[in-house]
Amino acid sequence: MLEERGIKLNLKVEKNPNKSSEVFYNSKMQMNRDISVSCLQVAQEQSEKDFVICEPLAGSGIRSLRYEKEVNGIEKLIVSDLNPQAVKNIKKNLKLNKSKKIDVFNKDANLILVENYKTFNFVDIDPFGSPIYYLDMAARSIKNGGFIGLTATDLAVLAGAYKETCKRRYHSKPLKTEYCHEIGVRIFIKAVIETLSKHDLAFEPLLGFYERHYYRLFGKVKESAKHANRSIKKFGYLSHCSKCNFRALGVEKIIKCPNCREKLSYAGPLWIDQTSDQRFVSKVASDLEKRGYEKAAKFTKMIEEESEIKVPFYESHELARISNKDCPKLEGLISKLQKQGYETSKTHFSPTAFKTNAPIDFILKQF
Ligand SMILES: C[S@@+](CC[C@H](N)C(=O)[O-])C[C@H]1O[C@@H](n2cnc3c(N)ncnc32)[C@H](O)[C@@H]1O
Repeated sequence: MLEERGIKLNLKVEKNPNKSSEVFYNSKMQMNRDISVSCLQVAQEQSEKDFVICEPLAGSGIRSLRYEKEVNGIEKLIVSDLNPQAVKNIKKNLKLNKSKKIDVFNKDANLILVENYKTFNFVDIDPFGSPIYYLDMAARSIKNGGFIGLTATDLAVLAGAYKETCKRRYHSKPLKTEYCHEIGVRIFIKAVIETLSKHDLAFEPLLGFYERHYYRLFGKVKESAKHANRSIKKFGYLSHCSKCNFRALGVEKIIKCPNCREKLSYAGPLWIDQTSDQRFVSKVASDLEKRGYEKAAKFTKMIEEESEIKVPFYESHELARISNKDCPKLEGLISKLQKQGYETSKTHFSPTAFKTNAPIDFILKQF
């Protein structure tokens, strides 16, 4: 028997759960679920109506059981899994936790979504690998003003280890740099907006982040071709200088480095605007704090602080290497840049990195 946040699961602990597990449960995804609970609560409160939810790739059912128990304003949850063993196990877990609002199905994720046209206020797509395969059907199942949560674990693809797969799956070129995960999150957001826009739906990213082996994205869907067109104007490129570490996001690629004249490499197309909405994340962080989920509260607080700085983060060790100097203390460096009037913060992407809108020549002078 397992337990997560008061939910009992009729499962044995597995050290390395994977695709071939009889029923999939990963305790390392608890923070993903903690943050998802608070995102859903904040979204529900903004909508002022009870939510009908779909989790089409449910595994053990832990996520939906937590939503039912921890989020106010839930009318009903529809969960499904293609694996009959998972469905049997979910049914046991529902009994064990005296669930009243969850209906279970043994169907393909795309089938359960397409059967429920414009039904859901929230769809949570939490698969093995890429959620992109389920997004077209999620688009059909979501109500106007609803929300979508997505987990991507195909980081080797989005972060640049498999370039051709990334081009094929996400229609973007990734780039292996120290900040490849921010590039990956931006490619992921672009792909979600692009897919939904085919359905005349706009997607507003409210929280996008990276943790260890996955990216998570939570956002709002609106029936509006006009808004979708506006979002597409925020697709562009990341131009990167491997010599001096200059980087810039823009609608067009930059060919030569404005700092050192080196030829630049690029990633994209990708999302060039904020990856999280500060006001939304601030509410999520407060909700997590109220629940006593300290690790997740601290983590989202950091995302809140960095969310207004669009320039991708700098890894301090890489800047020290380029400058041939010792790496200064991160806190000191951040406060120096802030004192000069530059927006600067730590970043959730890496404990040794920072975000700033200071120009690269000025940053390098601090080393
Ligand atoms: C990563 S696990 C889900 C974890 C779960 N959401 C959680 O928070 O613990 C992915 C699940 O998707 C199921 N699955 C894989 N392909 C599917 C498909 N095409 N339709 C529905 N379920 C599928 C697998 O059986 C597995 O249980």
